[in-house]
Amino acid sequence: MAESMTEATSPSVTMDIHLSDGTLASLATDVRDGLSSTPKTLPPKYFYDARGSELFERITAQPEYYPTRVEQSILDQRGAEIVNQVQPRELVELGPGSARKTHALLDPMFDAGLARTYVPVDVSESAVRDCAARLARHYDGRLAIHGLVGDFQAHLDRLPMNGDRRLFAFLGGTIGNLEPRERQVIFRSLRNQLGPDDRLLIGTDLVKDRARLEAAYNDSAGVTAEFNRNVLHVINSRLDGDFDPQCFEHVALYDESLRRIEMRLRATKAHRVRITAIDLDIEFDRGEQIRTEISCKFSRSRLSREYSSAGLELLDWYTDSESMFALSLTGPNGSS
Ligand code: SAH
Ligand code: TRP
Repeated sequence: MAESMTEATSPSVTMDIHLSDGTLASLATDVRDGLSSTPKTLPPKYFYDARGSELFERITAQPEYYPTRVEQSILDQRGAEIVNQVQPRELVELGPGSARKTHALLDPMFDAGLARTYVPVDVSESAVRDCAARLARHYDGRLAIHGLVGDFQAHLDRLPMNGDRRLFAFLGGTIGNLEPRERQVIFRSLRNQLGPDDRLLIGTDLVKDRARLEAAYNDSAGVTAEFNRNVLHVINSRLDGDFDPQCFEHVALYDESLRRIEMRLRATKAHRVRITAIDLDIEFDRGEQIRTEISCKFSRSRLSREYSSAGLELLDWYTDSESMFALSLTGPNGSS
């Protein structure tokens, strides 16, 4: 397949696909590097094949997983205010998933007569296709949708440009799944994409008590555990591996000093796994863990510092009554 291609799926929907053979190559490299290092790690963006995206949707409905509900309620209450302040004609969303939250920004954009274009950017092709089709139907052709199947850590320079004022939305606490160094890189590249009047809205989970945090990543129905093990299914199907996901149990613990949840998969017995496509054999000791994901928890002051060292300024801060989750509205330095 070509490195990048564009297709028109309906009059109001265009899609650019920037993932192809290159992605399989990076999956192979990332899996080889991660599983050969000590401790073993796997990079999180590979959770989201079609099954992973579906499992994530189910996580968001679990009673213990508060971030989705809390962020949604902040957006419902403050979405119109944010739109009025920014006056965007275009909404660019990084990692929209099913894009259920997106209505809280698009609806006020329509109410104010502003909405023209929606640009969902997601590594999951099924997520981009499904949300583009659903929103095209919902807004009945009144919204131009330009989907991008790509990696927001690699492909931000490929965003369509039409000169309209843009609001970027990066919701769901996804930024917290990246290491501080990676966050700086992405904040800087977003900063470089922002025109003087463009704004970036970032959703982050906040520091809180351990019990509440750990419960959110250890739902009693076991959906997060299944989501965590899904990365092994992805490796099996894409790289011809023979992981038995049932030989791994889900672990999610809060590290207070690093202020982050760490998700791991722990081998329940000593065994060997073969990944044929990259000719790799890996030994697991009983109890050995693979780190699969981090989810950082923030404070306003830490975020403010991270934004300013990337050339961004914190313009507004929206939170719930219990300060569980926050939305930061940011712009290029000096825009207030
Ligand atoms: N915004 C939604 C979904 C969050 S889940 C919500 O708040 O509920 C994270 C989403 O980001 C998934 O859809 C996943 O496919 C996407 N994603 C994760 N890493 C990515 C990357 N590097 N590039 C593009 N999309 C990514
Ligand atoms: N951004 C979400 C979060 O950190 C992603 C997420 C939720 C997640 N549950 C997870 C990632 C379980 C991996 C495993 O809350």
